[in-house]
Amino acid sequence: MLARGYAMLADQLKAASGCFDIAAQDAVYRAIFTRRDVRSHFLPDPIDDDVLARLLLAAHHAPSVGFMQPWNFIVIRDRERRERVRDLFFAARQQELPEIAEERRELYRKLKLEGICESPLNLVITCDRSRSANSPLGRWHNPEMDLFSTVCAVQNFWLAARAEGIGVGWVSILDREALKQLLGIPDHVVPVAYLCVGHVSEFADKPDLERHGWGCRLPLAELIMSEVYAGQGETALRAAAAAIGGLPQAG
Ligand SMILES: Cc1cc2nc3c(=O)[nH]c(=O)nc-3n(C[C@H](O)[C@H](O)[C@H](O)COP(=O)(O)O)c2cc1C
Repeated sequence: MLARGYAMLADQLKAASGCFDIAAQDAVYRAIFTRRDVRSHFLPDPIDDDVLARLLLAAHHAPSVGFMQPWNFIVIRDRERRERVRDLFFAARQQELPEIAEERRELYRKLKLEGICESPLNLVITCDRSRSANSPLGRWHNPEMDLFSTVCAVQNFWLAARAEGIGVGWVSILDREALKQLLGIPDHVVPVAYLCVGHVSEFADKPDLERHGWGCRLPLAELIMSEVYAGQGETALRAAAAAIGGLPQAG
């Protein structure tokens, strides 16, 4: 009983200091560490509108420069339209191929890099660059901050989707102008992310590109710099980062 009292007090103190309880912390890290870019394993089942609305609400609560909220969400369900986008993907992949190092081209050809038609729903998250044109708070020196804000919305959507058991795959191998034309996107709006969204049969435990030997996760400790670019130091922090090694165990 006493222990329970202390536990409650500890919870209250944590709540007061803004810290999540352990289960909630675990849930956040779990969403982060088990999120995957999904191109295969999509199921045809439609996504409930209530669920989709929650995911969009998560996206809409992303931080944005000057509270600009430059995003819109184009929901694409029509099969024919998705096929036209997939044709854009095939064309863009063909154009990209010569840019890939020759020894990796065979592997590149084999990689599954989109799930446009396999997923029941596609979503384009756009950035309206004119939304706060008359008061560019935070964008005077760095006008691209609106694009960065939109990427934050994408990540919120992606993590919330993972928590709901919904897979998301980002397709960037698309000619932007051709995509804009196909979807009637005006000049001042940038399609930041083309996402394939749907329920999935599984989430892989590793990135697809890692499984296929295209790349691997860089050691965190080697990415930490101290005070200035390439600055050495932060030995203890680097050691801590190296000691974490793989993923923390869900607790
Ligand atoms: C901006 C951006 C664009 C991406 N474009 C593509 C793409 O066109 N095709 C693809 O298969 N994956 C794409 N990805 C997914 C990455 O390949 C993937 O995030 C990375 O391999 C790590 O895997 P993970 O997301 O499962 O952890 C993109 C990811 C980001 C963030």
